[in-house]
Amino acid sequence: MSVAGVLGTGSALPEKVISNADLEKLVDTSDQWITERTGIRERRQAAPHETTSTLSTLASRRALERAGIKATDLDLIICSTISPDMPLPSTASLIQRELGAHGCCAFDLAAACSGFLFGMTVAEQFIRTGASKYVLVIGAELLSRYLDYKDRATCVIFGDGVAAAVFGPVDPPSGILGHELHTEGQYAEHLFIPAGGTALPASCQTVEKGAHFIKMRGNELFKVAVRSLEDVSRQVMKKAGVKPDDIDLFIPHQANQRITEAIRERLGLRSEKVYSNICRIGNTSSASIPICLDECVQSGRLKRGNLVLMSAFGAGVTWGAVLMRW
Ligand code: ACO
Repeated sequence: MSVAGVLGTGSALPEKVISNADLEKLVDTSDQWITERTGIRERRQAAPHETTSTLSTLASRRALERAGIKATDLDLIICSTISPDMPLPSTASLIQRELGAHGCCAFDLAAACSGFLFGMTVAEQFIRTGASKYVLVIGAELLSRYLDYKDRATCVIFGDGVAAAVFGPVDPPSGILGHELHTEGQYAEHLFIPAGGTALPASCQTVEKGAHFIKMRGNELFKVAVRSLEDVSRQVMKKAGVKPDDIDLFIPHQANQRITEAIRERLGLRSEKVYSNICRIGNTSSASIPICLDECVQSGRLKRGNLVLMSAFGAGVTWGAVLMRW
């Protein structure tokens, strides 16, 4: 059995920055409200020519280069996204074509903000069992394409971004030490896009009603998020026999700085152990954890031997945690 770990990371952010002041011109909100209630000061927005697959290709090339492997070495590509280029085919297929990763398997995975951790877990299983050697996992979201810029409850939260990581066999003690994933469908309507699928196919009426935009019950989600993130973080640590004090770096999904603070306090982690970029990037759903991971790798914040805990929560609702020795 092989132990799976990260061989290289890469990210790609659109250039355009949307500040809180920009949003003040669109909806009844204020820089003070957004900053105090979410911790977000700015987020990125993709240009019209950019798509989930084009930014993913860019991030993936960076990750492959840093991993020192060729696209043709990949056995599997998993693209975690809830904002695909189009319903059909998968965004992973488009990325595979652009990378020239002929011969490998590629598919999309939909678990919203928890998606990258779901993807990592799938990659770990393929590598551990020997079914795959090199797996590319991408967290990719252009949620600006699904935002109603008249709805202040959602348009201030989400941003665009993509990041990728190449997974492969590593030598212990490095590698993924444990994972824990959950889904609870009873909260499905807490965060959803009503139209555009088989339940409510796209029509002039759905467009008129804005039913193809993200709808969110933020307040209800907040409570479920804090409880689930604490529980799942403790579960994965318990399984691996480690304590919160052993954690060198905690990368939570960047949903809301108040959620991050609440989890940090509940787990008893010191502030310097918790990574946050929400003020610059906003909530990029499944791209949030890999963007943080890439920033930590490139800045040297993450050092060999560090114990890293990653926890996420998202639509579905889904939640999960992965523990990894860098
Ligand atoms: N600007 C100004 N006022 C606002 C804004 C805004 N942008 N948004 C809401 N308000 C108002 C509300 O209308 C409400 O006003 P009222 O008291 O007069 O009725 C008041 O602010 C409080 O609203 P709440 O919704 O209770 O605000 P809350 O403090 O809960 O913050 C937020 C809202 C930021 C959305 C928070 O609930 C949150 O972050 N929730 C979690 C989101 C999450 O984790 N999502 C899952 C991951 S994302 C994914 O999977 C894709």
